Amino acid sequence: MTRSRELDVVLLGAPGAGKGTQAERIVARYGLPHISTGDMLRDAAAAGTELGREAKRYMDTGELVPDEVVIGVVRDRLAEDDTRDGFLLDGFPRTCEQAERLDVMLAADGRALTHVIEIDVPEEELVARLAGRRLCRECGRSYNVVFDPPGREGVCDACGGELYQRDDDDEETVRNRLAVYRRQTEPLVEYYRGRGVLHTVRGGGKMPDEVFSQVTAILDAA
Ligand code: AP5
Repeated sequence: MTRSRELDVVLLGAPGAGKGTQAERIVARYGLPHISTGDMLRDAAAAGTELGREAKRYMDTGELVPDEVVIGVVRDRLAEDDTRDGFLLDGFPRTCEQAERLDVMLAADGRALTHVIEIDVPEEELVARLAGRRLCRECGRSYNVVFDPPGREGVCDACGGELYQRDDDDEETVRNRLAVYRRQTEPLVEYYRGRGVLHTVRGGGKMPDEVFSQVTAILDAA
């Protein structure tokens, strides 16, 4: 689909709310560059860079990586040419400091967020989703042993790669990630409501395509 206007979008939601799942669909439909701070930090950790090693210490316990580190990563990414006509931020901002700094970064370019889409899912469903998530080591495709299982256990349907569980998807770390979300990230819902850009979609008990219909209704509205 071609876009008639700039979309500068943030996806907001607790761990397991389906940000990555919806991001894949949004990118395919609207052609926005997908900027996932979680993916960028995991890539840095896998590459063993200094930033990655520092980030991994926080990620493995479910704590947030310090603001200065993440803000620097996002600033560099938003300076790239492909974000000129729009972007999809997934997992950033996650603190008020990050949100304020993002506003300043965009304002410096005469821009402002056009949409913040919050995906709202009840907590027990989040825990079940994350316990069941599996990812392909080769192509990164995401599965869920309950909600979206692969045809053959442990094997990616798309490329035959091995499926694995993320280090921070064990139950104890998931509980901490959810507590961190409530404490540090949920206040952003009111922050963005106050700026008139917040839209909430109901994700609980709904298939990914049903959630996506709500998302497209928001992004396609004039
Ligand atoms: P990050 O990678 O951003 O993880 P997260 O926010 O915890 O989110 P997840 O990736 O776990 O979930 P998701 O909402 O994308 O759900 P998904 O679509 O995969 O961050 C990881 C860590 O990095 C943080 O803890 C922090 O340490 C650090 N970090 C990242 N950004 C940071 C920042 N800005 N500041 C500081 N630190 C930062 O779906 C989950 C599962 O549910 C999948 O199995 C999927 O198949 C299934 N599913 C999805 N939708 C549905 C549905 N509708 N119905 C049933 N199942 C579904």
